[in-house]
Amino acid sequence: MSPVAGEAEGRTGGLEGVEFADTALSHVDGARGRLIVAGHELEDLAGRVSFEEVCGLLWSGTLPDPAEGERLRRAMAEGRASAFADLPRLGDALGAADAMDALRAAVAHLRPRGHEPFAEVTAAMAVFAAAWARLRTGRPPLPPDPRLGHAADYLRMMSGEAPPSAARALDTYLVTVADHGLNASTFVARVVASTGSDLVSSVVAGLGALKGPLHGGAPGPVLDMIDAIGSAESARPWLEAELAAGRRIMGMGHRVYRVRDPRAAVLEKAVERLEEDGSAPGRLARGRAVEGEAERLLAERHPGRALRANVEFYTALLLDAVGVTRELFTATFAVGRTAGWCAHVREQRLTGRLIRPSARYVGPVPPGPGR
Ligand code: COA
Repeated sequence: MSPVAGEAEGRTGGLEGVEFADTALSHVDGARGRLIVAGHELEDLAGRVSFEEVCGLLWSGTLPDPAEGERLRRAMAEGRASAFADLPRLGDALGAADAMDALRAAVAHLRPRGHEPFAEVTAAMAVFAAAWARLRTGRPPLPPDPRLGHAADYLRMMSGEAPPSAARALDTYLVTVADHGLNASTFVARVVASTGSDLVSSVVAGLGALKGPLHGGAPGPVLDMIDAIGSAESARPWLEAELAAGRRIMGMGHRVYRVRDPRAAVLEKAVERLEEDGSAPGRLARGRAVEGEAERLLAERHPGRALRANVEFYTALLLDAVGVTRELFTATFAVGRTAGWCAHVREQRLTGRLIRPSARYVGPVPPGPGR
């Protein structure tokens, strides 16, 4: 283990800069703002290959050829069908008021049975999230359509329709968030895998970590913020009041990036394309104005620390533009990130090592025997 960045910044407790594993899955270059996924620049994947193809890349190390891509597409479609068939035996799991609570409870029931457990679990995430959205609004869940790609089918199962431009944008989103180094949820998924536990337990642990507002829970509050600010002129006073109240600006700052998160740029472009098609609600200009003000204010307050837009800022605008409601934002993040969790579980199992760090004991010590 090699402590680096965190110590340099005088902070401890967050494991910053600690490298505890070798991974071939993704590399987050925080200084240059680069994300490499299994040998490919994010920008060469997002919008160019499908979510299923990125699953293949993460699970086997190479981008699938057309025949393998088709096989994966079928495996995911079969996974969706099997998860849909499981809905009646989930009991009250999908009745939870919070989408992430529902997802965690529903996924806990999964017992992958086939030869493709990663596809089964990843596919199920979309079915359960979409079913929760339908049940919440008093509508019956819609069965999956095996002819559709995963992103399009997720959108259709959720809202009843999947316009091609929205489905493409959602596919870009799922690819963008599929894996991202040792973020908190991936770390806990690997810790669980290192104990020899099962895949579903790792994924349930990942969901628990992803739910938190400092990780995957930020995009809902980002959209609330953009709506509450209303107009570009109100951005500065609104943000100043937030900081004065001791609150953080959601969608800004990152543990690793010291420049703008490259995923923010990829998603921003995807929202721009949707607006050009006339299929987005037009929040992009206000979002950009809020981002600019937030960046200026944070730079004034923390001159030594770059706090710029992270993935969640434009996630909020993209998911809203394709018709995902805000209570489903974090669950939709999970629909994409499950692909990465599965890949990390596989990589961790190959090491055969239990992850078991130490803590410095600072509590009282009773007089020992013989003193
Ligand atoms: N708004 C206001 N201040 C922020 C901030 C934000 N979004 N992000 C960091 N800061 C401040 C911290 O309060 C701290 O100030 P201090 O030195 O006066 O105590 C300083 O910047 C350093 O922050 P630190 O807590 O060390 O950063 P971190 O690496 O632990 O945190 C995040 C990274 C992502 C948790 C943090 O930037 C954050 O909370 N962002 C908002 C939530 C979010 O968007 N999460 C999604 C992440 S992808």
